[in-house]
Amino acid sequence: MTSATTPPSTPHAPPTADASPGGRDDLPPLDVLLPAPRRLDPDPREDALAALYADEPPSRGPWTVRANMVTSIDGAAWGPDQRSGSINDDADWRVFRVLRALADVVLVGAGTARAEGYTALGRPRGLTHLRAAPLELALVSRTGHVPERLVAADRPPFVLTAAAGADAARSVLPDDRVVVVGDAQVDLAAGLQVLADLGLRRVLTEGGPTLLGALLRADLVDELCVTTTPGIVGPGPGRIVAGDVPAGPQQGVPVLPRGARLAHLLHSPHARPGAPAGTTIARWLLPIG
Ligand SMILES: NC(=O)c1ccc[n+]([C@@H]2O[C@H](COP(=O)([O-])OP(=O)(O)OC[C@H]3O[C@@H](n4cnc5c(N)ncnc54)[C@H](OP(=O)(O)O)[C@@H]3O)[C@@H](O)[C@H]2O)c1
Repeated sequence: MTSATTPPSTPHAPPTADASPGGRDDLPPLDVLLPAPRRLDPDPREDALAALYADEPPSRGPWTVRANMVTSIDGAAWGPDQRSGSINDDADWRVFRVLRALADVVLVGAGTARAEGYTALGRPRGLTHLRAAPLELALVSRTGHVPERLVAADRPPFVLTAAAGADAARSVLPDDRVVVVGDAQVDLAAGLQVLADLGLRRVLTEGGPTLLGALLRADLVDELCVTTTPGIVGPGPGRIVAGDVPAGPQQGVPVLPRGARLAHLLHSPHARPGAPAGTTIARWLLPIG
């Protein structure tokens, strides 16, 4: 749990910038259950784990959007403290940092940046051989309200906003970091195109649920990586997808609900001390709807 004296967290990441949720350096082994059983022992370079998340060919545009989310087994997207950090664990963290190491840009909703106290991002320690370029952050915000600690960052985020939020965003960020796409609503596809034009084609979205819901409705998600940690939170928290109910068939083709193909399934026999073991980590590929 984050307090005034601990650094801010990021969704299902631990409160410190590069330490595991359990505060240990030794990350747990991961068993590959599918497609072919084997064990991935802790590895500072994480080459084998990164290979499991190798790029798929882009199919929806010049970009790929990978969503990475965590849930409890009863479907909660956050814990009693309103943050996802309280439902994650070391196994999730092991994959989380590899996905950040492989991305060009992390895309988050402004609500998540505010709730989780996002700061400027860096490449995870020891994994720059996977991708050396700076890891960019892009915020989606209709209102254009950027959290203070991101305004103050040496490397400010991009903000994807609508005309309605342009002035607010431009009042605190350099013009070249404010991407205005859409009038009343943020046109997410247009925003992804702008990022791709800047060379930011591997997009990792870390949520939150409202942004993921909008991306799914617009059929912009190529893959959904879901960690299920073995806890029960109980009634209250929302799911990993939120927002408006889909308006029905678009151009004759319903985008949601839809199927997905399992690329791999990992399992961790270890968990943070005192917590039950059994975390599963799935990579689901989404066909075009
Ligand atoms: N389980 C997980 O993996 C996970 C991951 C991330 C977050 N979370 C949790 O989720 C909770 C936050 O949920 P949330 O749904 O509020 O998060 P969110 O999607 O990050 O934030 C919603 C806000 O982001 C902006 N936004 C999102 N989608 C937009 C779109 N399509 N167009 C324009 N603006 C958009 C809007 O900001 P403006 O108001 O500025 O317009 C909106 O109010 C927190 O408790 C967090 O811990 C869980």
